[in-house]
Amino acid sequence: MPRLEVHNLAKRFGGAVVLDGVTFDVDAGVVLGIIGPNGSGKTTMVNVLNGAYRPTKGTVSLDGIRIDGRPPHQLIRMGVSRTFQNPRVFRSLTLLDNLLMVTEGVGHQAKAGSQARELLEFVGLGDYSSAVASELSGGQKKLAEFARALMTSPKLVLMDEPFAGIHPTIEEILMARIRETCDSQKITYLVVSHEVSELVSLSDEFLCLAEGRVLASGAPGDVSTDPAVMEAYLGAPTASA
Ligand SMILES: Nc1ncnc2c1ncn2[C@@H]1O[C@H](COP(=O)(O)OP(=O)(O)OP(=O)(O)O)[C@@H](O)[C@H]1O
Ligand SMILES: [Mg+2]
Repeated sequence: MPRLEVHNLAKRFGGAVVLDGVTFDVDAGVVLGIIGPNGSGKTTMVNVLNGAYRPTKGTVSLDGIRIDGRPPHQLIRMGVSRTFQNPRVFRSLTLLDNLLMVTEGVGHQAKAGSQARELLEFVGLGDYSSAVASELSGGQKKLAEFARALMTSPKLVLMDEPFAGIHPTIEEILMARIRETCDSQKITYLVVSHEVSELVSLSDEFLCLAEGRVLASGAPGDVSTDPAVMEAYLGAPTASA
């Protein structure tokens, strides 16, 4: 059984059709890279998959259990966590408290403190656990968000533009840690990115969205060089990849 099954997913805002019949599945322990021109529906799909938006149509299943329509706090408990295109940290809290925020109600409270410290260490932010989040660089915030996403022992982590505007050193750490946790904990990752060459080297599988539909899916090298995919990018006036 696939870890994540997305079937005929649609999302409309008023008259605007943003996702239109999206179907794919991903197994446990796989990094699925998601590309697509600006406005193709990538972030909207992440928002539907983590429960921030209700789908207009279609189903989403995690390990065979329907999860569509459930709110984010329930999905976090069921093993779905995410990071944001623009990192969202609680600016006035320390890094440690930022990580501890998500474990409320998830259990393992006694272990949470040491787990948070270990995860900060794991992403290279061990020295910053008592720093206030507003003092971090953009890239460090992305690392902190990633560590926070791992706090709840996820089965599925949705990452929206994790590599955008970050220093190559931080990008390297992030990519290595994604790969490592994917392989060792069988976490499934959906990674949305415009950094196509980085994404090709990280991913096991690829999917390209265009105008809310799956334009191509398969091996990263094949999808990224697919003529239809290149045309979708070139045809988009603001495409950045
Ligand atoms: N809450 C909303 N209400 C109305 N329209 C929306 C809403 N959210 C997104 N859209 C529209 O849906 C389309 C897809 O947006 P989305 O942010 O999902 O694209 P994206 O693929 O993530 O783009 P980018 O690469 O620029 O991040 C856009 O036309 C956007 O204006
Ligand atoms: Mg987006």
